[in-house]
Amino acid sequence: MLIKRFRNSEELSQFAAKSFIELANKAIAERGRFLISLSGGSTPMKLYAQLANETLDWSRVHFFWGDERCVPVDDPGNTYGVMRGIFFDKIGTTNIHRVESTLEPASAAQAYAHTLSGFADAPFDFPRFDLVLLGMGDDGHTASLFPGSQVEIASATIAVTAHYQDRPANRVSLTAKVFNQAREIWFLVTGAGKAETLRNVIKGERNLELYPAQRIQPVNGNLIWMIDEAAGRLLN
Ligand code: 6PG
Repeated sequence: MLIKRFRNSEELSQFAAKSFIELANKAIAERGRFLISLSGGSTPMKLYAQLANETLDWSRVHFFWGDERCVPVDDPGNTYGVMRGIFFDKIGTTNIHRVESTLEPASAAQAYAHTLSGFADAPFDFPRFDLVLLGMGDDGHTASLFPGSQVEIASATIAVTAHYQDRPANRVSLTAKVFNQAREIWFLVTGAGKAETLRNVIKGERNLELYPAQRIQPVNGNLIWMIDEAAGRLLN
C-alpha cells in the first residue's frame, strides 16, 4: 500500500489525471485496452473534468462503475448522468458500460453482472480491472459497501436498498471480490471531515464490518491512497 499526499484536491486531481493517462497508455500498449471502474461522489469530479482535456486513444478505454444510484440518468444522483456533461460528451466514446439505473436494484445488479461477464478474465466471471477508482465516505463506506453490510459476498454485484445518510437508497455496487482482483486501485480522499475515519481505516484495527474501505485489499495489484492535507492530518 502506498499513501500519496497532496496539498489540496487540485494538486491531487492533477496528479491523478497524469497517472491515469500513463497507466492507460501502458495497458493499451500491453493488452490493447484499458478497463476502468469509476467512482461517484464529489471527490473525483475534478479528475474527470481534467481528463476530458487529455489526449488518449479513448476508443480503447472501457468505462464501468464501481457503484451507481438507481435513479434516472438526468437525476443529479446518477453518477453516469453527472459525468456525461463534464466528461463523456467531451471525449465522445461509445465504450460506456453503465448500470441500467431505471431498473429495480435487484434487476439492475443482475443485468450489471451480465455486462461484467462480457469482459470476464477466467477463472472469474468479471474483468480484472486495470484501474479501480474509489472514494471513502466519512463513515468508512466505499462504493456502495456500507458499514454493517455483509463482508464476504460471493457474487460480483449486489443490490443495495437500505438508507444511508442523505444519499439515494437504491444502488448497485460491485463487491470487494471484484475490486480486489484489479491491477490497480486508487482511493481519492479529501477534506477534514474524513481525517478520523481515514486514520482508523489505515492505521486502526481491522474491522471489516465497520470499515468497508478496509475490505479493499488487492490480491495481486497495487493499492494507492491519494489524500489531501486535510484528510491526512491525523496520519503520522
Ligand atoms: C457514490 C460513491 C461513494 C463515494 C463516497 C465518497 O456515492 O457514488 O461511489 O462511495 O465515493 O461516498 O464520496 P465523496 O467523494 O462525495 O466524499
